[in-house]
Amino acid sequence: MSYNLLKGKRGIIFGALDEHSIAWKTAERVHEEGGKFVLTNAPIALRMGQINELAEKTNAEIIPADATKMEDLENLVEKATEILGGKLDFVLHSIGMSVNVRKGKHYTEQNYDWTHKGWDVSAVSFHKTMNVLYNKDAMNEWGSIVALTYMAAQRVFPDYNDMADNKAYLESIARSFGYFFGRDKKVRVNTISQSPTPTTAGKGVKGFGGFISYADKMSPLGNATAIDCANYTITLFSDLTKRVTLQNLYNDGGFSNVGVSDGVIEAFEEE
Ligand code: NAI
Repeated sequence: MSYNLLKGKRGIIFGALDEHSIAWKTAERVHEEGGKFVLTNAPIALRMGQINELAEKTNAEIIPADATKMEDLENLVEKATEILGGKLDFVLHSIGMSVNVRKGKHYTEQNYDWTHKGWDVSAVSFHKTMNVLYNKDAMNEWGSIVALTYMAAQRVFPDYNDMADNKAYLESIARSFGYFFGRDKKVRVNTISQSPTPTTAGKGVKGFGGFISYADKMSPLGNATAIDCANYTITLFSDLTKRVTLQNLYNDGGFSNVGVSDGVIEAFEEE
């Protein structure tokens, strides 16, 4: 269903890798709601080529950018405003990667070069992106910037590894940069804390199968899907949420406020 909530709005969407990506679903929904955007991803991710299908479907251009490189981000923002014909109204940061997770290094014995790389990709890239948007004055007033995060920033999920620390840092950047973006440019900055979702990044977490079923059993509304996340993001990009800023917003079927659920108790009850 479309409500034309983003008619006339322009933006950048980071992180659509394949049809499972949260950013992919978000791009489809933004398009349905009348928004125009540029798609971007790291050059290496673009090589797989799947994003071309999304670009075609949504009439979007693709501009490669490694989100850890300032020169790439500067080029991206300059080109995006040129292509879209004006300043931006929305930006989605949907980027995450931990080398320690990928290579199976345990949290207690990290390779710190990998830790640094994952932190740069997953957290500092959000600061760099906002730095470029802010200093190039590329956002319209009442624009909206959203990054995606996970509750391991607040609570222990042992196999989430150093991504937990990266997400805590990311959420802090949203508040700290969001303050200046709000004060100086009237732009809002929020993070959405999403349920476990079966995507390339999600499935990379050890024990993901058990993890996602447990979260589903714990949540009174069940896990939020990638489409649920896309829809929530649409509301944050729309004019209906103009003064929501500096928030970490849970899109998790209620998981974050549940101590234990009937379903989980049943699974543990002894005969
Ligand atoms: P995904 O694997 O489809 O997306 C991750 C994206 O990050 C990919 O498109 C990848 O190419 C991009 N990326 C990696 N390094 C990059 C770089 N240097 N520059 C630019 N882009 C780069 O997975 P998903 O799940 O859609 O991830 C999107 C966001 O949602 C991430 O921030 C993730 O941590 C977050 N999230 C995911 C959850 C899940 O269970 N899947 C739960 C909560 C949050």
